[in-house]
Amino acid sequence: MGRFCFTTAGESHGKGLVAIVEGMVADLPLGAEYINKELKRRQQGYGRGPRMEIEQDKVEIISGVRYGLTIGSPIALFIPNRDWQNWQEIMSIAPLEKETEPTTHPRPGHADLAGVTKYSLKDIRPVMERASARETAARVAAGAVAKRFLEEFGVIIHSHTIAIGQCHCEPSEAISIDWQQVETSPLRCADAELEKEMMAVIDKAKADGDTLGGIFEVIATAMPIGLGSHVSWERRLDGRIAQAIMSINAVKGVEIGSGFTLAKIKGSQAHDVIEPGPPPVIASEAKQSPLPWHHATNRAGGIEGGISNGEDIIVRVAVKPIATLAKPLSSIDLRSGKIAKAHYERSDVCVVPAAGVIGEAMLAIVLADACLEKFGGDNLKEALTNYHNYQLSIGKN
Ligand SMILES: Cc1cc2nc3c(=O)[nH]c(=O)nc-3n(C[C@H](O)[C@H](O)[C@H](O)COP(=O)(O)O)c2cc1C
Repeated sequence: MGRFCFTTAGESHGKGLVAIVEGMVADLPLGAEYINKELKRRQQGYGRGPRMEIEQDKVEIISGVRYGLTIGSPIALFIPNRDWQNWQEIMSIAPLEKETEPTTHPRPGHADLAGVTKYSLKDIRPVMERASARETAARVAAGAVAKRFLEEFGVIIHSHTIAIGQCHCEPSEAISIDWQQVETSPLRCADAELEKEMMAVIDKAKADGDTLGGIFEVIATAMPIGLGSHVSWERRLDGRIAQAIMSINAVKGVEIGSGFTLAKIKGSQAHDVIEPGPPPVIASEAKQSPLPWHHATNRAGGIEGGISNGEDIIVRVAVKPIATLAKPLSSIDLRSGKIAKAHYERSDVCVVPAAGVIGEAMLAIVLADACLEKFGGDNLKEALTNYHNYQLSIGKN
């Protein structure tokens, strides 16, 4: 468990979701509107199912904030499930007089079969309810606390979609990204032309009763140098990021920087040459870096030796196609053992843009933890003073 951590509770069609966030400093300005903005971003995206129209998440801050400032105690966040009223029988906490019909046709690619077997259940429903990515709303709420904290250090985290199925655009190092355009794009895609193609392939998959995956990229800018450490495996920042991102539902691949491409090229082409002088100031970031050197390129994705090296952190993430198909795959009925169509209930067709927002939250949580580990402090002012003193000391040894 890190200095900053969180846990979630809640089922997809239960009363609601809970996140408990621990280790945040006192005096950080934080309000429900800020968290709600992030929750709304998670709910958008072309290819989501009808549930998104029902939910419209809003958080209730239960503890850890007073007069708009954190107070250093655990922050409890509650997100009601607006659909709960229609599921009170199926998800009843109290025993029912008559049992409901169990779900017994596991979906290939979902947690259903492994889950019922592991927990010795007759009904897939409890597994479906917790394996559902509805849980990621609680992660995004926890991640919003981390994002708010990182903003105080100047760190901003963005995400964008770079592939849907076979439709692929250039990764960030090859293009300059207009983040405002990404925020208004229904697919969170920086390339307006490619976006049309992506929407067409999603429409086609939907019409075919099929689903699609893709790739998103998460980028943290204005990163402090020195988060994470080379000294122990569990302190390496790249390892911590990979674990957090890989834990997102449907994520099947994570690369830092040029990742898999580096395996195909020579060392002389792969590594980022070090040059004297501070990094060039980017117009959108008014702040001049205190570093007396910079890298000519950023194929390492901002991490060397498990330590942030001051460049942007770039994480690319592969998302598999959704497992619940309107034209279901073949499965079995767990009661009879005979062939049956997999279970279907309303579902998303493609979730890559939303997964990007969840990726931002998970990256923010890891970076906030690493920041608190490096700069310490129980109050925001103390953490920021430690950070500024460290910035002043860089390159002066
Ligand atoms: C934002 C988001 C929404 C998702 N929506 C669905 C969905 O509607 N139907 C579905 O079958 N899977 C959905 N998934 C994926 C499943 O949650 C995931 O495949 C399942 O938990 C099994 O885990 P695994 O794919 O990581 O092995 C979604 C994933 C994300 C990130």
